[in-house]
Amino acid sequence: MKLLLLGSGGQLGQDLIASAGRYGIGVEAVGHAQCDIGSKDQLCAVFDSVSVDGVINAAAYTKVDQAETDTEAASRVNRDGAGLVAEQCSAKGLPLLHVSTDYVFDGEGSNPYAHDGIVCPRSVYGRTKAEGEQLVLGGHSGAAVIRTSWLFGEHGPNFLKTMVRLAFEREIIQVVSDQLGCPTWSAHLADALLSMMQKTVAGEASAQGIYHYCGAPQASWHEFALDIIGEVRRLSHPKVREVVPISTEEYPTPAERPRYSVLDCSRIEDEFGIQQGDWRLGVKTVVAQELRKRN
Ligand SMILES: NC(=O)c1ccc[n+]([C@@H]2O[C@H](COP(=O)([O-])OP(=O)(O)OC[C@H]3O[C@@H](n4cnc5c(N)ncnc54)[C@H](OP(=O)(O)O)[C@@H]3O)[C@@H](O)[C@H]2O)c1
Repeated sequence: MKLLLLGSGGQLGQDLIASAGRYGIGVEAVGHAQCDIGSKDQLCAVFDSVSVDGVINAAAYTKVDQAETDTEAASRVNRDGAGLVAEQCSAKGLPLLHVSTDYVFDGEGSNPYAHDGIVCPRSVYGRTKAEGEQLVLGGHSGAAVIRTSWLFGEHGPNFLKTMVRLAFEREIIQVVSDQLGCPTWSAHLADALLSMMQKTVAGEASAQGIYHYCGAPQASWHEFALDIIGEVRRLSHPKVREVVPISTEEYPTPAERPRYSVLDCSRIEDEFGIQQGDWRLGVKTVVAQELRKRN
């Protein structure tokens, strides 16, 4: 079987390409330079030129803080582009897996967010992604939205890479400790998406509606940083002496982040048998890769 991958040059896109072979899936990889998903003409040309069994959309505007002022550009990709991709998939009768985010929630909760929980984004990025979800699900009955959170992997930029760099630059690193979520290794998410696609195309299950997939266990950014720095210390001799917890108020950002964005991933497990991966395994793997690159 073969899938069309949009956003193939991104963090998740590159892990999808790396893992597809293990699922016996061929990939038509289409990056931003080949196709702007905000352009109907460009999308039409791509969909007309490939013969595939399904589509994964990993393309997105992901600069969360920049989106606050670059609203139009974020909407064009995350809302309009997502809708256009769904439209093409619907016209061709192709299953679509569209990736979304925990930032669609307001973060006021204290129990894991269910897939059918009420969305209430607090940032432009979150709002444009939520609008994209609606267009995708409203435009194609064969579409699924997979929300994930705190992605990190080999092909960043991401939080893990920033922490590894700072470990060699600073003696003290300050990290927010009052935001809770679930780090997700992009290689684990790639496996989840490929498994969903494989089962959907084979008719063993049907990906429709909203699913959550993130790593386990839940952590604060500070706890995530401690794990990363611990691994750096185990393998190398960084400069950092201390990772100091700070509050959100002490680290203001243009875009508001949810205080709590743990996702309940039970639906993907119930319907596809896909279990949450332990993100600490990803930390071990990606930190080792990063340190090799530094040497
Ligand atoms: N990163 C996270 O922490 C996180 C958390 C939750 C959910 N997600 C979601 O997970 C998905 C994958 O994220 P990621 O971390 O892999 O992001 P990423 O590394 O930024 O990858 C996104 C890709 O989309 C491309 N793109 C941007 N605008 C486009 C357009 N108009 N047409 C076609 N391609 C375009 C980007 O290309 P350029 O670089 O050339 O612009 C990039 O290659 C996204 O849907 C994101 O919203 C991410």
